[in-house]
Amino acid sequence: MRRLREDGMPEGRHPFLIRQMTHEDMPAVITLEKASFRNPWSPELLRRELDHDWSTILLVEEPLPNGEKHLLGLAIFWIVQDEVHVLNVATAPEHRRRGVGRAVMDEVLARGRHRRCTLATLEVRRSNEAAIGLYKSLGFRSVGVRPNYYADEKEDAIVMVLDF
Ligand SMILES: CC(C)(COP(=O)(O)OP(=O)(O)OC[C@H]1O[C@@H](n2cnc3c(N)ncnc32)[C@H](O)[C@@H]1OP(=O)(O)O)[C@@H](O)C(=O)NCCC(=O)NCCS
Repeated sequence: MRRLREDGMPEGRHPFLIRQMTHEDMPAVITLEKASFRNPWSPELLRRELDHDWSTILLVEEPLPNGEKHLLGLAIFWIVQDEVHVLNVATAPEHRRRGVGRAVMDEVLARGRHRRCTLATLEVRRSNEAAIGLYKSLGFRSVGVRPNYYADEKEDAIVMVLDF
């Protein structure tokens, strides 16, 4: 049986620290967004998410020998009624394939289950093999296509769903 934390949520099996973003984290988050996306989220957009009750931004950190913490990754998701909707997942380029994306997504899904959600949904670029690989490894399946969803590059989105 999985261990539960004091707040009743499952304990992760990874060496990272995961916590919610605050306004003080903005500079580090902007650096991570810029390193991860051609169209990174702006500070204004992130600030808006921080102020929405239904939105959560989780940060993945690693403690450094000097006591400071290094930001490795993030996930942004909404919980609306019984659905977890994942808007953004990123791992700093130099820390990819270390389990950061899986760790933060496990936490997102655990929080959704804890809130008695019945499914998780997301959209991902058709060409994004890394993200599609991550989501499939978590049990997401493709259920449809939104043509030209990413209008700038005229790229389709694959819609993926995980039933809890
Ligand atoms: C997608 C992304 C978040 C994955 O993060 P990550 O921390 O490297 O992922 P993990 O190390 O946790 O990998 C977990 C699993 O995902 C899959 N995966 C991750 N990267 C992959 C790649 N490049 N190719 C194929 N599968 C991949 C694998 O199944 C992997 O398990 P394994 O390492 O045991 O084989 C990262 O590549 C990223 O930040 N990309 C740029 C931003 C982005 O596109 N975000 C998604 C928007 S929808």
